Amino acid sequence: MEKSAKIVILTGAGISAESGLGTFRDEGGLWAQHRIEDVATPEGFARNPDLVHGFYNARRVQAAKAQPNPAHRALARLQAEHTGEVVIITQNVDALHEAGGAAQVLHMHGTLAGALCAVCGHRWPAPLEMQTGQPCPACAAPAGRPDVVWFGEMPYFMEEIYAHLAEADLFAAIGTSGEVYPAAAFVDEAHLAGAHTVELNLEPSAAASRFGERRFGPASETVPAWVAELLGRP
Ligand code: APR
Repeated sequence: MEKSAKIVILTGAGISAESGLGTFRDEGGLWAQHRIEDVATPEGFARNPDLVHGFYNARRVQAAKAQPNPAHRALARLQAEHTGEVVIITQNVDALHEAGGAAQVLHMHGTLAGALCAVCGHRWPAPLEMQTGQPCPACAAPAGRPDVVWFGEMPYFMEEIYAHLAEADLFAAIGTSGEVYPAAAFVDEAHLAGAHTVELNLEPSAAASRFGERRFGPASETVPAWVAELLGRP
């Protein structure tokens, strides 16, 4: 691969599965345990904020105990050793990419580590467990919420993401089911930019046929092997 090639990577819950964090749509996944409309929509939060805080508090506690796996570390290695730009865009709200050594990760669905004021938009570091009516440190409104992008809300960094996709020489989607837009269409944007596209997933995603290359298996095995190949050294 060209030394200066720009690599754009999209990750989903599958890259954190082997770190013990649940995925959404696998057997017994988070959306089998909770109704999306109850815990991942603004309407659900307005209806029952305690339930929503409970859902994210449990995920925050679990994420705090999780360790990065070889897939997270391999992407950090790629960022450190590849001479061209390596951009990591994640749909995940955990901090395992950063814990694995990655830099400038674009969390398009927000982060468990962040709290947001629903009234004034102020952001602050979320406590491990948030309570309903948490006063905003800036405007004191009792409107603290997880800084996570819910269904029906605009994902973050979209302009920057499309600019990266337009310049991509190589686009990889890792551990994502390709079921949720706009992330599921990033492969099409990259393809339009002339990038080589590869999917690394446990099994074919809904978007598999739109990738030029597909590698199946657990991310902790497929991603380190893929990175070693890209760098031309084990
Ligand atoms: N290694 C690689 N891939 C895996 C592994 C693994 N160990 N385990 C599971 N996978 C794959 C599954 O095959 C599946 O295709 O990861 C994918 C996980 O898909 P989802 O559970 O749908 O997660 P994701 O694609 O990240 O969901 C996207 O949907 O609900 C919203 O906001 C939420 O960010 C999330 C978005």
